Amino acid sequence: MLRINNVYRSFGSKEVLNGVTLTLKPASLTGLIGPSGGGKSILLKIIANTARASSGSVTFDEGLSTADVGLMFQEGALFDSLSVYDNVAFPLVGGKVPTNSLPVDEREDVCDKVSEILARVGLSRAAYKMPGQISGGMRRRVSLARALVSRPKILLLDDPTSGLDPVASSVIIDLIVELHREYRPITMIVSHDLRRLLPVVERIVGLFDGAISFDGSLDDLRQGASASIRSFVSCRFELGSPAIEQVPTV
Ligand SMILES: Nc1ncnc2c1ncn2[C@@H]1O[C@H](COP(=O)(O)OP(=O)(O)OP(=O)(O)O)[C@@H](O)[C@H]1O
Ligand SMILES: [Mg+2]
Repeated sequence: MLRINNVYRSFGSKEVLNGVTLTLKPASLTGLIGPSGGGKSILLKIIANTARASSGSVTFDEGLSTADVGLMFQEGALFDSLSVYDNVAFPLVGGKVPTNSLPVDEREDVCDKVSEILARVGLSRAAYKMPGQISGGMRRRVSLARALVSRPKILLLDDPTSGLDPVASSVIIDLIVELHREYRPITMIVSHDLRRLLPVVERIVGLFDGAISFDGSLDDLRQGASASIRSFVSCRFELGSPAIEQVPTV
């Protein structure tokens, strides 16, 4: 279990998170949605301990700690001087790169894991390219592979589909869902691609102006969400009309 307890964060006089409280259950798959600037990325960074809350806390139960969090940053954050392969290997080797200087037995294990995940994100042939030699969409897949390679128990993915065409976006979402089924990490995905995200997650959390203004399933979203959330979602996803109460005829 991971608990976000009344987290606030401001930058200067701007309140970005206004008391966010959220519990993520073991093995859960959650989609975090909301408008640009709503605080999604800063919330993920606070969970991963790469940014600090102004007040409030993040706590972990059941043997989990902040070291179990794998975060894919929205901005990618690849090391430009390392190959695709070494970027992906980085979390496995505690930063001991380049990996060709590792002892052979260690190198083999790293190689198996990196090769498997590169194949799954469709980048086997780009392993020895440098980040500057591949496309933006490929770079996003490298940073996704780097977040996934160590199979972290808590997986936070910040906009893994951004800049991808619809087919590539589906492939990435399907891969995340498949990995989630395989080893059941606590997973939270941020995406603006609601058409692909909403049907596959178990729980949808809406972060609007730094506060959680929706928390429920897709059915709940279809039936019970407020007008402002419905209008945000329905611009990007076919929600259908809200259920109309049946008025008994006499
Ligand atoms: N390091 C920073 N310094 C100053 N302001 C920041 C910083 N990081 C984030 N902010 C501000 O916090 C607010 C929330 O930003 P955040 O990146 O969390 O939004 P987001 O929901 O992830 O948006 P998007 O969907 O565009 O990625 C924005 O107004 C942003 O300008
Ligand atoms: Mg963001």
